[in-house]
Amino acid sequence: MEKSEWIWMNGEFVRWDDAQVHVLSHGLHYGSGVFEGIRAYETERGAGIFRHRDHLDRLAKSAELYYLDIPYSVDELREATHELLRRNGLRGGYIRPIAFRGFGEMGLYAQSAPIDVIIAAWPWGAYLGEEAKRTGVRAKVSSWRRISAASLIPHAKASGQYLNSILAKTESVKAGYDEAILLDEHGMVCEGSGENIFLVRDGQLITPGHTASILDGISRKSVIQIAQDLGYTVVERDIARSELYVAEEAFLVGTAAELVPVREVDDHALGDPGEITRVIQARFEDALHGRAQEYLEWLDIVEQPSRVTS
Ligand SMILES: Cc1ncc(COP(=O)(O)O)c(C=O)c1O
Repeated sequence: MEKSEWIWMNGEFVRWDDAQVHVLSHGLHYGSGVFEGIRAYETERGAGIFRHRDHLDRLAKSAELYYLDIPYSVDELREATHELLRRNGLRGGYIRPIAFRGFGEMGLYAQSAPIDVIIAAWPWGAYLGEEAKRTGVRAKVSSWRRISAASLIPHAKASGQYLNSILAKTESVKAGYDEAILLDEHGMVCEGSGENIFLVRDGQLITPGHTASILDGISRKSVIQIAQDLGYTVVERDIARSELYVAEEAFLVGTAAELVPVREVDDHALGDPGEITRVIQARFEDALHGRAQEYLEWLDIVEQPSRVTS
């Protein structure tokens, strides 16, 4: 990881190396935390944080779902993030807010343990690599099923839930693939280990609906809007595993990975990234980088002092 200088921790800015927690923190033992992955992009008007409020609203919702009372408002977290980027001199990068049950009480009903909140930001390139964005990834359907709503809360972005993603991702990488695709408890296609999935069939975009235990991705929502604005039909429906193999095109979307074509699933070739994937990817990149007028409102611009000194 590339270090930055400052991390915002419980209301204070502390040095990166001093941002430490107690080894008996509740979240470390039980995964009792909620977090977000957010990206900021350098734009002509300064750092633009992509759909910042949507991410912070999801953080607040995830916290509520797991009974974590975040002692800061969404506005306070937004302001802290702006100041963090300014202090670190970052005009783009990855932003990671996390709220977790801290040190003070063990046991599963540890209501007296405080909720610690930190926000870190650092430079981080495309999660699956720039090459993957151009040529696509090789994916494997995981033997691990995506967590079900009968046991956890798929719509929350909670720390402990990521053991499921880690199992799937590790299995696929160890088997020589780039990414995992998880099926849901019914055997329907759900999502990647850290991305939502879209297929193209008969020229239409298809993506699993919310009954498939997906995370309600902010990139997914943005891509649906972009595709519809471009005149494509987007259908949210169950997707059978075998549809992955016969799709004309497929791609993954997520904050860390951005939009990544899928070139192969379980050794069935889909081929080079197709036309529809390319068109939507280009538009999505324009939106992220503040080059698309109609999506400028998705960027929360951080007022920065000018880099030019005279
Ligand atoms: C499991 C999972 N699904 C989907 C996504 C995509 O969500 P978003 O576009 O909001 O980053 C992520 C990333 O946060 C994820 O971890």
